[in-house]
Amino acid sequence: MRISVIGCGYLGAVHAASMASLGHEVVGLDVDAEKIAALRARRAPFYEPGLPELLEEADPDLLTWTTDPAAVAGARVHFVCVGTPQMRGELHADLQYVDAALEALMPHLRPGDVVVGKSTVPVGTAERIAEDLAPTGATLIWNPEFLREGFGVHDTLHPDRIVYGLPTDGGVTTAAGEAARALLDEVYATPLAEGIPLVVTDYATAQLVKVAANSFLATKISFINAMAELCEATGADVTALADAIGHDVRIGRRFLNAGLGFGGGCLPKDIRAFMARAGELGVFDALRFLQEVDAVNMRRRVRMVDLAREVCDGSIVGRRIAVLGAAFKPGSDDVRDSPALSVAAQMQLQGAHVTVTDPQAIDNARATWADLRFATTPEEAAAGADVVLLATEWPEYRALGPEALGQVVAHRRILDGRNILDPAAWRAAGWTYRALGRP
Ligand code: UDX
Repeated sequence: MRISVIGCGYLGAVHAASMASLGHEVVGLDVDAEKIAALRARRAPFYEPGLPELLEEADPDLLTWTTDPAAVAGARVHFVCVGTPQMRGELHADLQYVDAALEALMPHLRPGDVVVGKSTVPVGTAERIAEDLAPTGATLIWNPEFLREGFGVHDTLHPDRIVYGLPTDGGVTTAAGEAARALLDEVYATPLAEGIPLVVTDYATAQLVKVAANSFLATKISFINAMAELCEATGADVTALADAIGHDVRIGRRFLNAGLGFGGGCLPKDIRAFMARAGELGVFDALRFLQEVDAVNMRRRVRMVDLAREVCDGSIVGRRIAVLGAAFKPGSDDVRDSPALSVAAQMQLQGAHVTVTDPQAIDNARATWADLRFATTPEEAAAGADVVLLATEWPEYRALGPEALGQVVAHRRILDGRNILDPAAWRAAGWTYRALGRP
C-alpha cells in the first residue's frame, strides 16, 4: 500500500519507518527541513531505541522523506501525526499544526483516499475535519496512537489495541466508512493477524479513548504520589505500599511508581486540554478531579526542592547539586515538561549551583535551560557535590555504587527522586538517603 505520513516527530517518524518495515511504500512529510535531511541520511532526528535500525534496514525506494506536500499525491492512506502542544497561556491544545497539515494535504487528495488522524485532539475535532474533507471525496478515520516514547517501535508494531473511529450515520457506519476501514485493515494486516484487539467505534469515542487512557495513567501516578504525601506524614514507605496494593490484580503494580511524577509531551498537556474541552462542553465537573491530579503532580517537584533544602541544613544557596537525569523519563531524549529539569532549574533559580547529566538529553536540556551546567557522566556531575539528586531512572543510574560515587562527592547526601535505590546499601556506605514518600 502506498501511504503518506504527515509530521515526522516522535510519533510520525516511528510510524512511517514501522509501516515501511511492514512492506508498505511510505512517504514521510514534514515542514522541518533539518529533520527531513537527517531522515534521508537514515539518521533518527531524536533518540528512540529501535528507530535507527528500522531506518538502516528500510528499502530506500519504499521509505522516502520530503518537505514537498505534492509528494503525498498517489498515496491512498494519509496518516496525520503532527503535534498538538498546549496553547501558550491556556489549557487548550493548539491545533495549528493539524490544520496546517490538512491544508497541505487537501489539494492532493482523491476520492476514495483515507485520511487517518493519529494526533491527540480535543473531542469534536475529527467531526470538523471530516466536514472539511467532504469536498475531496476522502474519508476520515480516527485512529489514536498510544505509543510510549522509548518503546515507540514496539508499540507501533505490537500495540495493546487498535482503535478505529469511523464515520457513522444514525449510529451505523457509513458505506464510505466501511470502504475506508477495509483499506486501513490492509495497512494493519500484520498486527491484526497477530490477534491484537481491534475496537471499532465512532469518531467521538475514538478521540475520547486516547485522552481517557492518558488521564487514567496520570491519575494512577498522582494517586500513588498522593499516598506518598500520606507516607511522609506518617513515616510509612510508599514503595512497600505500592507493592502491596499492586498485588491486587484489579489495581496492578504498573504506573504506581511514586517519585517526581509525570512529565513529557503527552500526559500533562493532555489532561489540561481534556479539562478545557470538558469546560466547553459544559461538563467540567466530570473532570474536576484532574485539577487535583495535576496539582499533586506539581507538588512533588516543589517537595523535592524542599527536601534538598532539608538535607542541606536549611539552605541550598551556594550549594553544589548534581542532578542525574534531564529527560522526562529513561529511554528518551525528550525534555518537554521534564520533572528532572524542572527541579534542576528551580534549585538553580533558588541559588544552588546545579550540574545536570543525562545519557541522551543534554543537548535538548541545554537548548531549554542554558543557565544550567552540564556534565557527560554522573561522576563528573557529582564531583564536589553537596547533594546528588537522582531525577530520571536511567538503568546506568540505578546501577551506581554508593562507594564509588562517594569518592567524588563533597558530602554523601542522595535524594532518590524515583525511589529506585536501595536505601540500606546507601546508608551503610555513609550516605544520607532521602526520597519522596519513604522514611
Ligand atoms: C504516555 C502514554 O503512556 C502513552 O500511551 C501515550 O501514547 C503518550 O503518553 P509517554 O509520554 O511516552 O507515554 O510516557 P509514559 O511512559 O507514560 O510516562 C509518563 C511520565 O510518567 C514519565 O515522566 C514517567 O517518569 C512518569 N511515571 C510513569 C511515573 O512517575 N510513575 C510511574 O509509575 C510511571
